[in-house]
Amino acid sequence: MRFSLLPLLCIPALSSAAPDVIVADFEGNDFGAWKVSGEAFGKGPVAGSLPDQMPVSGFVGQRLLNGYHGGDDSKGKAESPAFTVERKYLNFLIGGGRFPEETCMDLLSDGKVVRTATGRYDRPGGTEQLEWKSWDVAELAGKTVSLRITDNRTGTWGHINVDQIVQSDAPKTLELKKEFVIGDRYLIWPVTRDTTQKRRFFFTLDGDKEPLLYADICLSNNPDFWVFTDLADHQGRKLTVTGTIPGGLGDAWEKVKISASYPGEESIYQEALRPQYHFSSRRGWLNDPNGLVWKDGSWHLFYQHNPYNHNWDNMTWGHAVSSDLFHWKEMAPGLQPDAEGYMYSGSAVVAPKGSTGLPVKGDALALIYTANGNHSYEPGRTVVQSVAYSEDNGKTFTKFKGNPVVPHVVAENRDPKVFWHAPSKHWVMPLFYDGSDYGIYTSPDMVKWEKTCDYKIPTDGECPDLYELPVDGDAKNTRWVAWGAQGKYMLGSFDGKVFKAESGPHHHYFGAAYAGQTYGNAPGGRRVHIGWMRDGGAGLQGMPFNLQMSLPMDFTLRRQGDGIRLWAEPVKEAEALRASTKEWKDFTYESGQTDPLADFKGGQFEVEAVMDANTSAAEVGFRIFDDHAAIWKPGDRTFSGAEGQQAPVDGKLKVRIFVDTVTMEAFVNGTYVSKYIRQTPGTKPLRLVANGGAVKFDSLKVHTLKSAWKE
Ligand code: FRU
Repeated sequence: MRFSLLPLLCIPALSSAAPDVIVADFEGNDFGAWKVSGEAFGKGPVAGSLPDQMPVSGFVGQRLLNGYHGGDDSKGKAESPAFTVERKYLNFLIGGGRFPEETCMDLLSDGKVVRTATGRYDRPGGTEQLEWKSWDVAELAGKTVSLRITDNRTGTWGHINVDQIVQSDAPKTLELKKEFVIGDRYLIWPVTRDTTQKRRFFFTLDGDKEPLLYADICLSNNPDFWVFTDLADHQGRKLTVTGTIPGGLGDAWEKVKISASYPGEESIYQEALRPQYHFSSRRGWLNDPNGLVWKDGSWHLFYQHNPYNHNWDNMTWGHAVSSDLFHWKEMAPGLQPDAEGYMYSGSAVVAPKGSTGLPVKGDALALIYTANGNHSYEPGRTVVQSVAYSEDNGKTFTKFKGNPVVPHVVAENRDPKVFWHAPSKHWVMPLFYDGSDYGIYTSPDMVKWEKTCDYKIPTDGECPDLYELPVDGDAKNTRWVAWGAQGKYMLGSFDGKVFKAESGPHHHYFGAAYAGQTYGNAPGGRRVHIGWMRDGGAGLQGMPFNLQMSLPMDFTLRRQGDGIRLWAEPVKEAEALRASTKEWKDFTYESGQTDPLADFKGGQFEVEAVMDANTSAAEVGFRIFDDHAAIWKPGDRTFSGAEGQQAPVDGKLKVRIFVDTVTMEAFVNGTYVSKYIRQTPGTKPLRLVANGGAVKFDSLKVHTLKSAWKE
């Protein structure tokens, strides 16, 4: 009996119930029993920042040990009295320079350094926020140890801050490192929707020096859903993931593993708010379409993507491929955040052999993107334009070693939309500067760029597009379209270097769609455009994904009424979605009559109508799920509230309306209007409207549409 009690008696010191032991809280007016020498740490703890220091945050209580007395150039040392290791972990807050042996805190045992830590930064930028660190000191249990804080560095980040050193049986943070052999497509992660719970992870391949990517992931023990890192392009390689997480997330971290599938994949595309024939990403957030390019029968759709949650973050280029613009297959991401920062919007081109200075052997697919260094984990970076290339038709991409190709110009300059200008035999890059200002750059090889002009799209900004279109199909009479994110555009001329606006801004694109661009290299001279459908509201709440792209549409230039204007039509490929059709011809509808659409049922459908624009009614058209109007008001010549150029042609309005799970888009005589909707249960999907009069239809067709995911 006696002997068996012994181990029990030993346990309390290391049991999880044992209270924490404070080694130093730096709350006093002086350093107490600590031996402090030199200038850097002053005469005692201080209540935050010192003169000329950025705001210091994250410390506990009123004070901390601050090594910035006399600025970065001062030096000093602070040594603790000896203490006994009584708990499994030593937790502490630390901030400042990342210089081992120069700006550091060491744990000493038997005169030797057995643990060491530094702050986070080694170049200009960064913050003075202290962060938790934990040392596992279980193997030192019962030993007498001491701490030494050193500031032996001058210049940038030549200081260190420390607070709240506590012995505890629970780690404040876990330093993670796991190695995986990539034998299946995904590395899966359990996450919470609570986007404040971000933890940063670094991913390295085969022991490379530079991380392949980094990601802020809201790891959770009680996941709302699972996300994944798509590793299809790195099969067979060795992946190391490192990170620091709060001690309590150890269970979630154990579940992060390589897998052929991800939890929830069995119900992918069947989620309540999942678009059925528009592109949405399997997981996470999307915004702008990027790098729209056609190559060898494939429409590539890259897009701004956060693979790890439903909000804008971790800007990555998602990548999907389709042969018909509706059935998309998602590939591994094209570009992922790394030391360059976030991968902001840009474009893709097919670069024939010899057309670039990139290290490629034959034809390549090149991505020209904005690297937003303000989001880099390395401070001091800025916003620049860079290039990546693929020699295997977009399966894998390599970032160019000579990046950036266009250094920072101004503000958050971004969104390069590159194309080849055949007459000048050079590449052209419209680039967004700031406000409504844009510039044009040209290059013989995609590596050396020079500025050739500036231009404006008044009242618009971001995401330029620039292309030439024939007017009414006449190849001898063309105009250049300079387009901005809101879909406003200038018409003019372009000689390969200088864009000269002749008219604008014009507008034929209204509602939710934003930041769209057109396909490069599309067959048959087509200008196929896709926009991002943004949502001013809460987005697709409760879903493991968020938001969708617009319907792909063809742009042409037509002479209309007072001038030449863009004209949008749904792409002809949309017709293949039709499942069943009901048709009515030559009829007049007036309010009070039996609505021929009263019995229509469906959640994905297209309405095709030719109707008279001249009507005695104040409002004519359609209501979608009661709340959403696709209505022509002859009095103010608006459709669905959009004051576009939907001028009647021969007194008629040609209307195409597309309804999908959460969106409605209307094309009316070349004008495009879109919005997010909800299909409220108990409401009628489609109703005819003729308020206060009658409307004549030449024809009306309603097509139910197939899901692109269920075939
Ligand atoms: C437009 C935009 C772009 C930028 C990207 C970042 O929506 O702001 O200008 O490159 O989104 O995701």
